[in-house]
Amino acid sequence: MYSVEKYKDIISTTDADTQKRYSIIEKLSKGLTVENDTALQMDKLLTEQLDLEYGDQTDPATISPASTSTTNAPAKPTNKKPKKRSASTSKKEESVDEVVDSFTKLFEAIKNQTGGSAPDEATMKEAMKELLKDTKISFSNLDNDLKKQVSSQPHVIQYQLPGKKEPGAFQKPDIPVFQSIVDDLVMGHVVMLIGGAGTGKTYMAENLLAKQALGRQHITINCSQWTSPTEIIGGQTMDGYQEGKLIEAWSKGHVLILDELPKIDPNTAGLLNDALAKTKIENAVIFNARKESFSKHPDFAVVMTGNVYPNTDSIAYGANNKQDLSLLDRVSGNVYFIEKNPDLEKRILQNEMIWSVCDKIRSVIEEMRYEAQISLRFMQTARDSYNLEMQRVKDKGKNGVKADEGKTFKGAVDSYISTFTNVQQKNIREKIKYDEIFEDHYYRNMDKDKEVY
Ligand SMILES: Nc1ncnc2c1ncn2[C@@H]1O[C@H](COP(=O)(O)OP(=O)(O)OP(=O)(O)O)[C@@H](O)[C@H]1O
Ligand SMILES: [Mg+2]
Repeated sequence: MYSVEKYKDIISTTDADTQKRYSIIEKLSKGLTVENDTALQMDKLLTEQLDLEYGDQTDPATISPASTSTTNAPAKPTNKKPKKRSASTSKKEESVDEVVDSFTKLFEAIKNQTGGSAPDEATMKEAMKELLKDTKISFSNLDNDLKKQVSSQPHVIQYQLPGKKEPGAFQKPDIPVFQSIVDDLVMGHVVMLIGGAGTGKTYMAENLLAKQALGRQHITINCSQWTSPTEIIGGQTMDGYQEGKLIEAWSKGHVLILDELPKIDPNTAGLLNDALAKTKIENAVIFNARKESFSKHPDFAVVMTGNVYPNTDSIAYGANNKQDLSLLDRVSGNVYFIEKNPDLEKRILQNEMIWSVCDKIRSVIEEMRYEAQISLRFMQTARDSYNLEMQRVKDKGKNGVKADEGKTFKGAVDSYISTFTNVQQKNIREKIKYDEIFEDHYYRNMDKDKEVY
C-alpha cells in the first residue's frame, strides 16, 4: 500500500530530512499498515523523490521485497551510497530539487504550526493544504506528451479593429507573417502576396484575411490581360451601366482582392493607381466611369496576389507583365513572399504518408532545378484520391467500382509525373523509390500517419 516501503533499506543512508519524512509516514500509518490520507500523500511525494534519486537501485537483487509486516522494524543499514550525479542527470536533479523544495516548505509550515513537536493528522492536513494553496503548475512541469498536445492546439486570437464593435475571433493559421499582414490591412496599407502556384495566396486573401481576420466581405478581380476598365471603375455593358468592383469595394468597405495582379495589362492597372494611393486617407474620393464621386468607407482594404513580384517580365510565369513603378510603390513595405509551409500542409492534409511522398517529389524538383512545382492544390488532389481509393478498397467492389478502376493516389502521382520529360520522369521515379511504394499499390498497406522517407 505504501510504495516508499521499497526504499526501507536505502532510507537510513539518506539525509536527515528524508529519514524524518519517512518516519512521519511510518508514524501516521502505524508502521505502514494503516491507510491514512496524509501519510499516503506524503508517501507518494517521498517515493517520487526517491524514485528519481535511487530508482535504478530498487531491483529485487539489491532491495528486500516489499513487506506487509505489521512490525515497526527500523530501517536496515545498507552499504549503498547515494548515487553521484552526472551532468546528464541535470534534468533529474531539477525535478528532485523541486520535490525537495516542496518538502522543505511543508516541514517549515508544520514546524510553525506545532512549535517543533510531532504533528497530528489534522495539523499535517492543514499544513499540506497551506503548501498546495500557492503551488502553481507551470508549462515546464507538464509531462512531455501533454506538452505536445497543448502545443498542437490551434491558437485563437482576437482582433479589435477600429470602427468595429465586436472583435473577430478565429483560429490563427500557422503562417508566420499572418499577424503582420493583418496589421497592414488594418492600417490601410495595400498588401501584396507573392508565391508559387497553389501555395494558398488566394485562399489566404479571401478566407483567412478578409472573411476570418477582418470579418469583411470581399470582391475579387481575377486579373488577366483581358481585364477591362469596366470591371474596375465601371462602364456601359449590353445590360446597361455596370458599376466597377473597385468602386463597389471602396464605397461599401469590402476587401478588394486583385488576384494575379501581375497578369493585368499595365495600362489597365493604371486605373487603380489613384485609389491605391489614397487607402490611408479618411473619406478619400475617387470617381467611376461616369465621373460620379465616391468617398472611401473606413473598412476598404486591398490585397494583391501574384506568382512573381512584377518588376520584370517573368520567364517561369509567362503571362505576367512588368508593372509600372508607381503601382509597385503602392505596395512597397507590404510585400510578403508566401513560401511552402510544411506544418500547415500537414495540418490541412491530415495524412503524413501522402504529404511525405509529395514533399519528396518537391525536393527532387528543387534539387534537379526542374521548372515545376508541387502545390498544396496537388497535395489535396492526391489526398482526396487516396481517400476515395481506400474507401473502395474497404468496400471490396460492393458499390460496383473496384479500387483499381477509379481514381487512385497512384493515378494522381502518375498524372503529375507524366507532365515531365522522359529523363526527368525516370529521375523522379528513382529518387522517390516509386517502384517500392507504388508497385501493386503497396502504399495501401502503409500507415497514413507516418512519413515514408
Ligand atoms: N489555410 C488553408 N486551409 C485550407 N485549405 C487551404 C489553405 N490554404 C490553401 N488551401 C487550399 O490549397 C489550395 C491552393 O490554394 P490557393 O488557390 O489559394 O493557392 P494560390 O497560391 O492562390 O495558387 P495560384 O497561384 O495557382 O492561384 C486550394 O485548394 C485551397 O483551398
Ligand atoms: Mg490564386
